Amino acid sequence: MFLDPNYIRDRIRTVPDWPQAGVMFRDITPLLQDAKTFRALIDMFVYRYMGQRLDLVAGIDARGFILASVVAYELNLGFVPVRKKGKLPFASITEEYALEYGSAAVEMHADAVRPGQRVLLMDDLVATGGTLLAGAKLLQRLGANVVEAAAIVDLPSLGGGDRIRASGLDLYAVCA
Ligand code: PRP
Ligand code: ADE
Repeated sequence: MFLDPNYIRDRIRTVPDWPQAGVMFRDITPLLQDAKTFRALIDMFVYRYMGQRLDLVAGIDARGFILASVVAYELNLGFVPVRKKGKLPFASITEEYALEYGSAAVEMHADAVRPGQRVLLMDDLVATGGTLLAGAKLLQRLGANVVEAAAIVDLPSLGGGDRIRASGLDLYAVCA
């Protein structure tokens, strides 16, 4: 089942002033809660990538996990978690980045990908683009080829999509 991206956008709730004053937080939980919309969203990603040569799908902690693990399963690929700092038990590499509301760091196990592997990187949303860029940097440091970054929403007012594309990374977002 395919949907107009407006249908997806309409099921994302905007919560003003969360987690801090001035932030218009885009909450994807209503979208996930609606079985048809969730399935249609996953299908959009699966159909986009099913013809492409991919080795792994990586997802960013925490909301990126919800998408990337399901897409990986549907494409019969392995899943790699890009975790927030301090959560991974094995030898890891780290990238720090700035967020719309603070700063953070993401980590990946040093053996999560092999050089030359073709990886799709997923998250729910692009705001400043810092998180996806940091995730891509981790993958690239390990020698992976990041085929594309994918998200449900790109918030154009924050410039993240432009920043990601300017870095040379392709970005696919279902809606703005
Ligand atoms: C949100 C969102 C993205 C990131 C986007 O995650 O899920 O990962 O911010 O922002 P950016 O484009 O400015 O980097 P958040 O850090 O709030 O963590 P969460 O998924 O644990 O809620
Ligand atoms: N991450 C960074 N900015 C965000 C926003 N406005 N809504 C949801 N997640 C975000």
